[in-house]
Amino acid sequence: MRDERNRLAPETIAVTAGRGGEDPGAPMNVPVHLASMYREGGAVNYAREGNPTWSAFEEAVGALEGGQALCFASGMGAISAILEELPVGAVVVAADGSYTGTRAYLGDAHDRGRLEVRLVDVADTETTLAACVDAALLWVESPTNPLMAVADLPALAAGARAAGALLVVDNTFASPLLQQPLDLGADLVVHSASKFLAGHSDVLMGVLAGRDDELLKRLAVRRTLLGAAPGPLETFLALRGLRTLPLRVERGQDNAGQLARRLAAHPAVERVRYPGLPDDPGHTRAAAQMSGFGAMMAFDVRGGQAQADAVCAQVSLITHATSLGGVESTLERRGRYQGEHAVPAGLVRLSVGCEHVDDLWADLCAALDAV
Ligand SMILES: Cc1ncc(COP(=O)(O)O)c(C=O)c1O
Repeated sequence: MRDERNRLAPETIAVTAGRGGEDPGAPMNVPVHLASMYREGGAVNYAREGNPTWSAFEEAVGALEGGQALCFASGMGAISAILEELPVGAVVVAADGSYTGTRAYLGDAHDRGRLEVRLVDVADTETTLAACVDAALLWVESPTNPLMAVADLPALAAGARAAGALLVVDNTFASPLLQQPLDLGADLVVHSASKFLAGHSDVLMGVLAGRDDELLKRLAVRRTLLGAAPGPLETFLALRGLRTLPLRVERGQDNAGQLARRLAAHPAVERVRYPGLPDDPGHTRAAAQMSGFGAMMAFDVRGGQAQADAVCAQVSLITHATSLGGVESTLERRGRYQGEHAVPAGLVRLSVGCEHVDDLWADLCAALDAV
């Protein structure tokens, strides 16, 4: 669908943005620029500061998110750069259901006295905003990983601004195809590009986007200082993957919707967490702020840990693996990680890929029947 402010449709942006020059004979894709240094007199001297392959990827992600993007060596590289930018003692309000790595970073910074971290349930708007008094930054994931909680992004953006806090949204689960947090009032959006953006489980990369030039300049310097510079080959692959993001997301979320309904009717499943289901607690919010419900979901296996582990061990078409957002479906029991106290022991996170839905269901159903 075309954006009302005349931005091209995301499907078109994904295919056309970041193509480089249009001179006759120019390559169709910006090549992999393998260089650690550049001749004097240009905009960039050294490859930790910039690379033409990065610029192409950043142009495409920036156009999709409606801002300017900066790419990083990993999602955690982008996340660390934002958090490192805060002064010592700054207060950060963050989703208690954030990605484990983000929480580990915040917990460590809190324990060392670098940041004061207040963890909240970001689906509870009132409590979240009440915690924002004196805060420098509100860190939100929506939907959250892996509980699939949906935050009211416009309300949090307005409340954070009133409290003088920046709002950062980790948009990894939704992707910019389905949710554009900058348009909803966020100051920064961040992704593990290793997931849906790159989409083929062969790249580790991160990216952030925003609209405040001064803040982006500082974050670019932070990237240089942290050395969180992505490799040019990874960046090329991420942009190549991005070209088909709309197709992959469309297929994955279509499959996810069907699997969610089938899982909800299976006797071995206690609860399905997918905002596309009309009775999901996040459904109304997600319908208001997302253009689709995405390809991520979680389900709680009746009986808890042992039964959930058995499902993960039993599937054969779906891969038992930790990451997500690839063309192939993956699942894992998230409670197996230290620090995931809030995650029910029987919760299985499922990243739905592009296989045929009937094959996926046959695999899942056989595993559930067996427990
Ligand atoms: C929601 C979310 N944000 C951030 C990250 C971190 O990204 P990366 O693994 O690319 O460093 C992940 C990784 O799983 C994630 O799921």
